Amino acid sequence: MNEKTLIKGKIHYVGVNDRNKHLFEGMWPLPYGVSYNSYLIDDDIVALVDTVDACYFEVFLRKIRSIIGNRPIQYLIINHMEPDHSGSIRLIKQYYPDIVIVGNKQTFGMIEGFYGVTGERYEVKEGDFLDLGYHKLRFYLTPMVHWPETMMTFDETDGVLFSGDGFGCFGTLDGGFLDTRINTDKYWDEMVRYYSNIVGKYGNPVQKAMAKLGKLPIKVVCSTHGPVWTENIPKVAGIYDRLSRYEAAEGVVIAYGSMYGNTEQMAEAIAEELSAQGIRDIVMHNVSKSHPSYMLKDIFQYKGLIIGSPTYCNHIYPEVESLLEKILLREVKNRYLGLFGSFCWAGAAVKRMGEFAEKSKFELVGDPVEMKQAMKDITYEQCGILARAMAERLKKDRPNV
Ligand code: FEO
Repeated sequence: MNEKTLIKGKIHYVGVNDRNKHLFEGMWPLPYGVSYNSYLIDDDIVALVDTVDACYFEVFLRKIRSIIGNRPIQYLIINHMEPDHSGSIRLIKQYYPDIVIVGNKQTFGMIEGFYGVTGERYEVKEGDFLDLGYHKLRFYLTPMVHWPETMMTFDETDGVLFSGDGFGCFGTLDGGFLDTRINTDKYWDEMVRYYSNIVGKYGNPVQKAMAKLGKLPIKVVCSTHGPVWTENIPKVAGIYDRLSRYEAAEGVVIAYGSMYGNTEQMAEAIAEELSAQGIRDIVMHNVSKSHPSYMLKDIFQYKGLIIGSPTYCNHIYPEVESLLEKILLREVKNRYLGLFGSFCWAGAAVKRMGEFAEKSKFELVGDPVEMKQAMKDITYEQCGILARAMAERLKKDRPNV
């Protein structure tokens, strides 16, 4: 028995750490890396739950063999097909040619499409069952958490949920994988960033999955990214629940573009007045410097959003426009929105951001402020009025004490 890899019963951790990739999905920075988690159930019948990025197959195979030696794996359960988890399917099939792949109707077309792998399969529907001996697995379809084929596997013997991307986060596993044996501090912010960047559009499917899974006696959550959760399950579930409802804390994100510092001075004036009005959490992002990954994380965290843009070629400043697209793509809901901007000879950005206000269905707070060229007394005054309107709107949501 390999105690270092054991999670519970006969379930082992056989995932890997990626400390090399700069950008997840080619877009999202990984300052703390990321883990690709896979789980091996060393039961009377051996089953593997998900695989890892193909770059790490050698490490993965060594981990598997350190537990089961030359015994065959009978089942490969595929909860999710994004290639960070499915990337080793073809190689696993080469090493274990008799393996039966377990997935749902949506899974097998993707396996063939990505990897050209066919062969014996067990196609499961909602609530289907697989008995491995000690562990008894039941399958739950959770489409769009994060792809349409996504499902979760629940071990009824020991209460272990294999949750795919659900409840995952960025960050490698440094030394241990169990939340009780590692310092989990770095994962909380990385969980919000992971959720907002990767899963953020799919709030409703996450809510549906949580309603379904909430009835199960879950003791351990084995996600495909980040620690194996045990004592932190309530905290993790709380974060996913809040984010997928698009609930946010009191605070304001001010995201602005600025070529020569004039629009930035508007942002400073707004922030100062927000602070004077008692708003403590103010996060400022110069869109040309902050990575969208972190701006999205903060936009998912806070209720207030104030966007500033200079007019550029009769349009919104391109970096601001790119951020607005990312917000719309994620269908972020229930935010209070303020707008400001500047122009040199003809204003367009503020007007065009009005289209974003309509599309997002955010509640527009105060009057948009538009400045010609540089700050004047009237601009300070208008920025102050906008900031006070935002502060007042946020304060209305404070609980009565
Ligand atoms: Fe970690 Fe959607 O894959």
